[in-house]
Amino acid sequence: MADQKLIVVLGATGNQGSSVVNTFLKDTAWRVRGITRNPSSAKAKALSARGVEVVQADMDDVSSLSVAFRDANAVFVVSDFWGIYGALAQQNKDTSEKPLNLLAGEIELQQLKNAIDAASQVPGLERFVLSTLSNVTKWSREKYTHVYHFDLKARASAYVEEAHPEQWAKTSLFQAGLFLNTYVESPNFIPQKASTNISQNADGIAHFITTMAADFKLPWIAAEEDTGPFVKALVQEKPGKNLIAYREWATLREMVKAFQNASETKSEVVVAPRDEPNEFLPPDLKLEIDEGFLYFEEFGYEGRDDPTVVHPSQLENPPKLDTMEQYFRKLDFSRIFSA
Ligand SMILES: NC(=O)c1ccc[n+]([C@@H]2O[C@H](COP(=O)([O-])OP(=O)(O)OC[C@H]3O[C@@H](n4cnc5c(N)ncnc54)[C@H](OP(=O)(O)O)[C@@H]3O)[C@@H](O)[C@H]2O)c1
Repeated sequence: MADQKLIVVLGATGNQGSSVVNTFLKDTAWRVRGITRNPSSAKAKALSARGVEVVQADMDDVSSLSVAFRDANAVFVVSDFWGIYGALAQQNKDTSEKPLNLLAGEIELQQLKNAIDAASQVPGLERFVLSTLSNVTKWSREKYTHVYHFDLKARASAYVEEAHPEQWAKTSLFQAGLFLNTYVESPNFIPQKASTNISQNADGIAHFITTMAADFKLPWIAAEEDTGPFVKALVQEKPGKNLIAYREWATLREMVKAFQNASETKSEVVVAPRDEPNEFLPPDLKLEIDEGFLYFEEFGYEGRDDPTVVHPSQLENPPKLDTMEQYFRKLDFSRIFSA
């Protein structure tokens, strides 16, 4: 349709972006352009088959983003700290001057600046939604300064305001809560087996092993399902929102209880000592993760003293989302317990 609006989605093949794609594909008032580095990947081809205009671009290359963002009415931007870290780790970089996680964060910040700069040049842009996280250094009053996958995203949000005030007036921030899928799908994800996996012990109890305290409230999101409904609300509502996005505000123990109900398998949190070395985490990431968990507990995942943060209930039209238990009920538990 000629009068359709265009949303351009970075990370269209990933958790957050794919959810944005899925939500906007269902609305005939919108057409969807999805960005990938590799249009011939299976995921990118599947997007094309579903009517997404797939465009090749790379966040390292601002000119490719400028082409990809052309004619957009709305742009959703997400960056991939862990992908950058993983790629650097394979390069055997010299880390004597700078730890890999700081280097990854700096690359992530530059990629986000590239996307922000490219979007600022789009004449008809109405809404810019940036996937970000809270500023740990600032909201912990400099108690925790090594949580780069949060801080560098927060610096990118600040950059929109500082460098592009006109674009800032069209911007809303999307802070994704903790992903539920990390806890059930990613045994090799960064906290890896020693700190955050599920393993069934000899008594048949599912142990969620973590160094995070189990009884403070956290924002939990099914990023691959919930991001789209939240981003649509942010696109349709007035700009200027800084949303902490979640389907449930619950403790780790409550999340595990939801898993127990869904799996009908006794499930427990096992809080492991933080001061022991972690064979699965290099020291830079152990510090990053440890400080992150302490920050969540003491200062709030979203930076609870940040007066700009809004919760889903404060949206004009909060999306209706499933519960954590409904999310877990869809899982193949035999696969999880045999992992
Ligand atoms: N795990 C959690 O609990 C949690 C919570 C909040 C926020 N986060 C943040 O979520 C982010 C990852 O988001 P996600 O899980 O939605 O992504 P994801 O599923 O890991 O996928 C990464 C996406 O980024 C795209 N991408 C990566 N590098 C790119 C580049 N240079 N240029 C263009 N596109 C690029 C990939 O596209 P192609 O491969 O197709 O090019 C892919 O679509 C991380 O930064 C993390 O810090 C995670």
